[in-house]
Amino acid sequence: MIEIKNLHVKIAETETKILNGLDLTVNAGEVAAIMGPNGSGKSTLSYVMAGKKDYEVTEGDILFNGESILEMKVDERAAAGLFLAFQYPVEIPGVPTMNFLKAAMNAQRKTRGDAEYTTPEFIKRVKEAAGNLGISMDMLKRSLNTGFSGGEKKRAEILQMSLLEPKFCVMDETDSGLDIDALKVVADGVNNLRSPDRGFLIITHYQRLLEHIVPDTVHVLYDGRIIQSGGKELALQLEEHGYADVIANAA
Ligand SMILES: Nc1ncnc2c1ncn2[C@@H]1O[C@H](COP(=O)(O)OP(=O)(O)OP(=O)(O)O)[C@@H](O)[C@H]1O
Ligand SMILES: [Mg+2]
Repeated sequence: MIEIKNLHVKIAETETKILNGLDLTVNAGEVAAIMGPNGSGKSTLSYVMAGKKDYEVTEGDILFNGESILEMKVDERAAAGLFLAFQYPVEIPGVPTMNFLKAAMNAQRKTRGDAEYTTPEFIKRVKEAAGNLGISMDMLKRSLNTGFSGGEKKRAEILQMSLLEPKFCVMDETDSGLDIDALKVVADGVNNLRSPDRGFLIITHYQRLLEHIVPDTVHVLYDGRIIQSGGKELALQLEEHGYADVIANAA
């Protein structure tokens, strides 16, 4: 489903290299977790997949169902079914969350050639999805992410994800700053969407999240490359021993 091949990325403005030949495949139906020390390039990978401008791919490719996404615009990636949840979701003052959700859903439906939702249809879908996530309609009237607590931002992201029904989701640090209840909400949100034709890439520092979202594969990112891959037991091993052994083995 997602094939990242020998990906080399640098900061567009400077010559700073961040990703150095990253290889990673995630199959349909698979939940892959990426772990790795601070500064290893995890968020950079999610930004490059999202098409953020500050980064330049100097070598390699990212294929989504066999097609390169690197030349695709941000909205084309979304329409193709790629969803990205960031470590620090952007605040959009002046745009009520409801309006944002409706615009996002309809833009995607339009590019896919589906009819736009009418307002009553849309409200019905949002109420249902928000209810499942414990999000109040009052919160959805507020500007997107503006003044939302960390946990509320994450809930809002999961709501977007469940409404957009993407094919492939990349989630960065979904567990940072989440209280135990919110962590469960996020995990349930992901688990509810798990399906044989949908893949996930979950970036996390903690085994804790992976107790709730049990990954099929775990990959260690270090210095811009995947240096080890394994099953869910790899996350446990890292939690217990840290990264030193894995890094030493790769050197
Ligand atoms: N715009 C930029 N200019 C210069 N350096 C950058 C820029 N963006 C990222 N970097 C550097 O790239 C490296 C990788 O950053 P990245 O945010 O991808 O790490 P990360 O693995 O997500 O770390 P964390 O676990 O702390 O979230 C870091 O050393 C960071 O300082
Ligand atoms: Mg990061």
